[in-house]
Amino acid sequence: MKRSLVATLLAAGLLITGALWPAGAHAAKKPKDIRRATVQVSEFGHLPDGTTINLYTLTNAKGSVAKVISYGATLTELWIPNYAGRKRDVVLGFDNMEGYLGTDPYFGAIVGRYGNRIAKGLFTLDGKQYSLAVNNGPNSLHGGIKGFDKVVWQGQPVEGAHAAAVKMTYHSADGEENYPGNLDVAVTYTLTDDDELKIQYSATTDKATVLNLTNHSYFNLAGAGEGTILDHVLFLNADDYTPVDATLIPTGEIAPVAGTAFDFRKPTAIGKRLDAPELKAVGGYDINYVVNGEAGKLRLAARAEDPNSGRSMEVWTTQPGVQLYIAISLDGSVKGKHGIAYPKYGAFCLETQHYPDSPNHPNFPSTVLRPGQTYSEETDYKFSAK
Ligand code: BGC
Repeated sequence: MKRSLVATLLAAGLLITGALWPAGAHAAKKPKDIRRATVQVSEFGHLPDGTTINLYTLTNAKGSVAKVISYGATLTELWIPNYAGRKRDVVLGFDNMEGYLGTDPYFGAIVGRYGNRIAKGLFTLDGKQYSLAVNNGPNSLHGGIKGFDKVVWQGQPVEGAHAAAVKMTYHSADGEENYPGNLDVAVTYTLTDDDELKIQYSATTDKATVLNLTNHSYFNLAGAGEGTILDHVLFLNADDYTPVDATLIPTGEIAPVAGTAFDFRKPTAIGKRLDAPELKAVGGYDINYVVNGEAGKLRLAARAEDPNSGRSMEVWTTQPGVQLYIAISLDGSVKGKHGIAYPKYGAFCLETQHYPDSPNHPNFPSTVLRPGQTYSEETDYKFSAK
């Protein structure tokens, strides 16, 4: 109510004086904190060859902030209020380039060309076999050796009436990481005045190829570095999941979650069933869910809530699937922003995507992109607190 009043007054270009705000309960919303959404561009750091990495700071009218760098089109910070209006940075990451160039488990990055695994790094398209770098056991993971998380994107700030955005673009040459086709990719991050972070993806190619883009943010709604997310309560709008073999490649089966520890259709603490036999081999959740409803249309995939801060996040997506990954491989050795060590289960990822290894499973929704087609996907993260 108060926020829409503020937006209206700002849009009308009125000068707001302190007299409009009573003291007391709403004192925190004093006029000097109220502003229009803005985008600032600054320097984040450099690559070893001297290339400058830019930082795009998106600030909304409430003062919530999302930061994106041109390396990997990576979301590095996301400052979101708790029930009392206190903002915390809810994504894991680094505060300098050394961090992103070191041991970085894809914190906040755009992953491509193919998010998650392709079995043995092999797929066949239109009768031709393509062989990708094998970088995860026997498989290819997250685009290969130098995926979209490790390339430099071009950024373009976009300021709107009630949102701040940055459009990141990247040209991936034919044969890059052995994928076919010259591919032009655009990823737009938009932070709205309602604390929604939208990520819109589009791409075109000049040869048939496969494509599966996602964002690999590691969320901790209590704040990055604030212990584990095992007490976060998760809802997943998914009746089915794609079971995997010992190397995390889908068997091809679409199986019901009912009766398994994968069932989050009733909101459940993430850590509640970690001892279940079906989670033993992996040590927790690292699994793709089939999002209920029609792929291609925005629909609710997930809702996560931190009971302590009251922060919650809904994930809406056009994608057919979402990978729940609970930072099983973190072990305290990676030190992130402010030198804080990130522990095992220190975050959860909800990577909206096509199913892993789709190019080798004709029964999965297709990931093939052909010349003349436009790849178009969107995922929205909606934050609130109570
Ligand atoms: C994968 C995990 C992997 C993690 C970090 C997730 O998308 O499913 O197996 O460890 O990314 O690379």
